[in-house]
Amino acid sequence: MSPIPGLNTVGLLGGGVIGGGWAARFLLNGVDVILYDPDPEAPRKVEAVIANARRAYAKLTMAPLPVEGTLRFVATPEEAVIGVDFVQESAPERLDLKQSILQRASAVADPSVVFGSSTSGILPTQIQIGMHHPERLVVGHPFNPVYLLPLVEICGGDATSTAAKERAAEVYTSIGMRPLMLTKEIDGFIADRLLEAVWREALWLINDGIATAQQIDDAIRFGAGLRWSFMGTFLVYRIAGGEAGMQHFLAQFGPTLQWPWTKLMDVPDLNQELIDTIVAQSDDQANGSTIRELEELRDDCLVSVMQGLRTVGYGAGEVLADFERALFDRAPAPAVAADSAQPLKVHEIRIPTEWVDYNGHTNDSRYAQMSGDAADAFLRYLGVDADYLRGGHSYYTVESHITYAAQSHAGDVVYVTSQVISYDEKRLHLFNRMHRADDHTLISTGEHMYLHVDTVAGKAMAAPPEMIERIAAVANAQTHLERPTQAGRFVGAPR
Ligand SMILES: NC(=O)c1ccc[n+]([C@@H]2O[C@H](COP(=O)([O-])OP(=O)(O)OC[C@H]3O[C@@H](n4cnc5c(N)ncnc54)[C@H](O)[C@@H]3O)[C@@H](O)[C@H]2O)c1
Repeated sequence: MSPIPGLNTVGLLGGGVIGGGWAARFLLNGVDVILYDPDPEAPRKVEAVIANARRAYAKLTMAPLPVEGTLRFVATPEEAVIGVDFVQESAPERLDLKQSILQRASAVADPSVVFGSSTSGILPTQIQIGMHHPERLVVGHPFNPVYLLPLVEICGGDATSTAAKERAAEVYTSIGMRPLMLTKEIDGFIADRLLEAVWREALWLINDGIATAQQIDDAIRFGAGLRWSFMGTFLVYRIAGGEAGMQHFLAQFGPTLQWPWTKLMDVPDLNQELIDTIVAQSDDQANGSTIRELEELRDDCLVSVMQGLRTVGYGAGEVLADFERALFDRAPAPAVAADSAQPLKVHEIRIPTEWVDYNGHTNDSRYAQMSGDAADAFLRYLGVDADYLRGGHSYYTVESHITYAAQSHAGDVVYVTSQVISYDEKRLHLFNRMHRADDHTLISTGEHMYLHVDTVAGKAMAAPPEMIERIAAVANAQTHLERPTQAGRFVGAPR
C-alpha cells in the first residue's frame, strides 16, 4: 500500500530513458509500477535507471523514504493499465505509435483513470484522437532525469477535461514534482520552445565555424546557466535593469532586437503594449521585493549552487575549488602576535546568519568548524601549504574535543588562538580558544591531535626536521603558558 492516498499503482507504457525515469520516481515514492515495453532489454535498462535514482535520492534528502513500490513487467499495454490509478505513456516520439498504444490501453483502463503522455512536443489534441474517453488524456512533459528534475508541463488538448489536468497535477505533485499548467496548447510547449531557440542558435554558431560545442556549453555553464537554475530569464533581467528594474532593462536592450545578435531575427515588435505587459508581469514576479532583496536572493542561490557543484568538483564547482585553493595559497601566513610567547591568534571570523540555530545561537558543529579552520591556519603558519601537500605530506586530525562556555550569535566576530600542548616527530597536540572579539569572552575551546602522514601511502610518518624545528620554536616560546584546564578533559569531567 503506497503512502500516497489514491495512488497505489501506476501503469507505464514505454520504459526507455524517460519511462525508466518515471518508474524510478514512482517506485521511490512507494508506488507500485506495472510497465509495458516490447524491448526484451527494457528490464535491464530500467533497473539501471532505478539504481541511479536510488543513489541520487540517498544524497538528495535526509528525509525518510517510503518502502519502495514493486515493479512488474507485462507483455501487453492492456495488462499495464488494468487496475491502476494513473497511466504515463513514454513510447517513442511518433504520433501513429502513441495513438495506437493509447487506443489499446484506453479501451480496457477504468474510464476514470487519467493518462499522461511524456511527448516532448506533439499536440495532445492529436494524441488523444482514437482514445476511449479522450477527455482523460493530458500531456505530462517531464525532463531527464525524471526522478530528479521537478518540472512537468501539463497541457490539455481540445477534448481534455479540466478534471484530468487537475488530477495529473495532483499525481505529479504527490511524487515531488512541480507541474507547470499550460493554458494554451502549442507545439513544443513552453520549455522545449525555449530550449529549441538556444539549440538552433548553437547549431548556427557551429555551422558558421564561430564556436565549438565546448565553447557553447562553457558559455552556458559558467554564466547564465547557473542563474537560470533558480531564477529563470525574466527575474534575472529585472535585476540587470538596476534600480529601475524591467522598464530600464527593456529600454536598454530593446533596440538590440533589431541588431544581428541572433540568426533568429523573427522577433516581436517591442511596442508599448508588449513593454507594459512584460513590466506588469515582472512586477508580479518580484511580488514587492526590492532589487537589493532580489540581488541578495540571487547571490544566496548562486552560492548554494556553486558550493553544491564544488562537492562534485565539476563545472563551476571545479572553478570555485581552484579559486579557493589559490586564495589559501596567496593568503599571508597568520601574523604572529607581537608577543609570540602568547597563544597565537590564528583565525578570525564573523558568524554568518546560516550558522545560527532555531534558538538564535551558533550551532554546536560550527565551533568544531571554527577550531578546525584555526588549526588549518596554524598549520599553514608552520608551512603546511599547497607545496607541502603536493609533496605528499600533511597532518590529519585523529582526535578532537570541543567544550562550550558561552554563546555567540550571528554577526559576532570571533577570534581563535592556538597553543601547542605537546609534539613529537609524528604528533602535534593543539589547544584552541575561541573568544568573542567585543569583550574577549571565552566561548568555546577545541583540542586536537594531529598525525603527520604520507598522503600517498596513507600512513603516519615522521615530519621533516624543518617542520619539527618550526613547531619547537612556537612550543618553546609558549612553555611558560599554563596548561589549559580544559585540556585532556573527558566528557562530563567536573569543571
Ligand atoms: N529523452 C528526453 O530527454 C525526453 C525528455 C522529455 C520527454 N521525452 C519524450 O518521452 C518519450 C520517450 O522518449 P525516450 O527518450 O524515453 O525514448 P527511448 O527511445 O529511450 O524509449 C522509448 C521506449 O519505448 C519503447 N517502445 C517502442 N515501441 C513501443 C510501444 N509500442 N509501446 C510501448 N513502448 C514502446 C522502446 O522499446 C523504448 O524502450 C518521447 O515521447 C519523448 O519525446 C524525452
